[in-house]
Amino acid sequence: MSGGWTVLCPTSDVLPGESHVAWFGDVPLVIVNFDGIFYALEDRCTHEDFELSAGPYDQATGQIECVLHGALFDVRSGEALRAPAYEPARPYPVKVEDGMIWVREPD
Ligand code: FES
Repeated sequence: MSGGWTVLCPTSDVLPGESHVAWFGDVPLVIVNFDGIFYALEDRCTHEDFELSAGPYDQATGQIECVLHGALFDVRSGEALRAPAYEPARPYPVKVEDGMIWVREPD
């Protein structure tokens, strides 16, 4: 821990267009690389708590789809873009330092 920040994984674990799951304490996060910028969402669809990381991530749009019923989320904000999810997925602040991806608890 450093100022509330916790190291998750090397940036090399999350290549452009890929998603990666890492644990922040006991919270699973899905980390994505969107054009070289990293974003982290709680790995939980707000429809029925399914893992978002099981679904496809579209690097052209920055959207991740829940594979269970097709809800769509913006990886940058967590915003729910398509039913049946209406609540945003929880975004976590991300920073990159020394080739590592760090996250902290959202404000
Ligand atoms: S659990 Fe994700 S759309 Fe239903």
